[in-house]
Amino acid sequence: MAPHPDFPRFDMTAIDLSLARSIDAFALEDVTFRPEVAEDAAAIDAIHDVTFGPGRYSRTAFRLREGHAPDGPTSLVAVYRGSVIGSVRLTAIAVGETPALLLGPLAVLPALKSLGVGKALMRLSMEAARQRHHRLVVLVGDFPYYWPFGFRVVPAGRVELPGPVDPARLLWAELTPGASEGVAGLVRAIGPAV
Ligand SMILES: CC(C)(COP(=O)(O)OP(=O)(O)OC[C@H]1O[C@@H](n2cnc3c(N)ncnc32)[C@H](O)[C@@H]1OP(=O)(O)O)[C@@H](O)C(=O)NCCC(=O)NCCS
Repeated sequence: MAPHPDFPRFDMTAIDLSLARSIDAFALEDVTFRPEVAEDAAAIDAIHDVTFGPGRYSRTAFRLREGHAPDGPTSLVAVYRGSVIGSVRLTAIAVGETPALLLGPLAVLPALKSLGVGKALMRLSMEAARQRHHRLVVLVGDFPYYWPFGFRVVPAGRVELPGPVDPARLLWAELTPGASEGVAGLVRAIGPAV
């Protein structure tokens, strides 16, 4: 895919390799977690490129988020040695008439995989969502990874996405007990347009 004219292409292979060389010294304590800002967009896009590839553009969750800004306070980046190495985005949605957040993509640079960055992004973004009084978070992803954060499979037929989704990967987490009770319907993005 051609680089966006406003965002120079990151040489992610170079960043990945240079980080990989310093991986022995990697400590999660040296990673800073902060809300995403506009200047992070190109680095995040480059991480999505290496982790998900071009196929991501056709995924239902991607298409749902397309054209809507991520939720500012809950969408976080992980920064190590001045580089963005991971990102989690959340987007404001409605399930039927109930406001909620859609979590994803969650991605960490392959060179720094399985060192705790993804779990830290999950924990901190869920905390931020709770502090902002959000009640329900929905995602499409692997249940074994997300269940420790409170995610459960959405009961069949309750939530409809505007495209095909494996029902076993459609998950939600209640940030307030009972938040999913009576919630049903089509999911649409309601965040500000970009
Ligand atoms: C999935 C991802 C975000 C995890 O982040 P990470 O920083 O690499 O991993 P963490 O250190 O947080 O967690 C590692 C643990 O999660 C497990 N794990 C990783 N991906 C998993 C998956 N898809 N399903 C189940 N478990 C998974 C690892 O086996 C590891 O287990 P352990 O702690 O028992 O050793 C990251 O590997 C990534 O970007 N993958 C590609 C993009 C992707 O698949 N995103 C998620 C969409 S569902």
